[in-house]
Amino acid sequence: PSVFRMLTGDRPTGALHIGHYFGTLKNRVRLQQQGVETWLLVADYQVITDRDVSGDIKGSVRELLTDYLAAGIDPERATIFAHSGVPELNQLMLPFLSLVTQPELERNPTVKSEMQAAGKTAMGGLLLTYPVHQAADILFCHGNLVPVGKDQLPHIEQTRLIARRFNDRFAGGEKYFPEPDALLSKAAVILGLDGDKMSKSRGNSVMLKMTASETAKKIKKAKTDSERLITFDPENRPEVSNLLTITAECTDRTPEDIAEEIGDKGAGTLKVMCADALNAHLEPVRARRAELEAHPDYLFEVLRAGTERAREKAVQTLDEVRDRMGM
Ligand code: ADP
Ligand code: NA
Repeated sequence: PSVFRMLTGDRPTGALHIGHYFGTLKNRVRLQQQGVETWLLVADYQVITDRDVSGDIKGSVRELLTDYLAAGIDPERATIFAHSGVPELNQLMLPFLSLVTQPELERNPTVKSEMQAAGKTAMGGLLLTYPVHQAADILFCHGNLVPVGKDQLPHIEQTRLIARRFNDRFAGGEKYFPEPDALLSKAAVILGLDGDKMSKSRGNSVMLKMTASETAKKIKKAKTDSERLITFDPENRPEVSNLLTITAECTDRTPEDIAEEIGDKGAGTLKVMCADALNAHLEPVRARRAELEAHPDYLFEVLRAGTERAREKAVQTLDEVRDRMGM
């Protein structure tokens, strides 16, 4: 395509951690700097896909906006918008729902495992249809590039199917909607301090918003192993390798190179190096964060302006969709 248009987003469920930062945020900033048109969705409605309490969504939106801008998302170049501010997305979802069958919705392996994880409190309907909502989020701006983790691939497949079927059924084969490509993250999954995947809900995270000393304290408590010789071996030594990966992400060195320098000085030395590198790397992010935190009005003005831009686009797309459907 001649224009690369990226759509990504997050559910506002709390402040972001360094897994988000190294796993996706840095890459989004890089793509934005390379001139990729950037649409960034604050998926507030999607908070309730897998839980029956929504929590302080507004507070979480504020945290998310702060982390985005502190990490280097440029609100002049990126359109940051909220689901709830663009009702046309929900209207777009209606014809899209008619384009997928019930078995196709139920077969989605990510939805299946989320259903199981949510158990009895699952918001059944929304959990089943949120990938269709996502299709509307991507296609309303004719997004053709969606940076995702592996678990999101079935959803992108569903979006491609919806685009294809819409084009065939309602647009006479015209390529009205693009079939978006998933851009699979090459970044390593960052483990939390307990050795499981770093995750908001597990309390095992180093948050972007933490101070340098909070960060050092957390990393000091990170799970490692008893082998003094430090080696990079993600398969057999995931925790030690994770700290090496984080250190490497913060410097222009490789994990192997850092392991060799530490040699048999043990995990204590590795933890100090990791915390120092991380704190140095995040220092400007945290400085911007502190500045932004002092200006919540500015943050919500950024969101309001982005939502207005997104809405203009969504109104136009919905008009064109209705037109093609013969309305
Ligand atoms: P949600 O909580 O809204 O379901 P997540 O917070 O799990 O979403 O993740 C959003 C995205 O951030 C993921 O698709 C992935 O790209 C990235 N991410 C989250 N946690 C990690 C991690 N521990 N390591 C690397 N990337 C991560
Ligand atoms: Na590096």
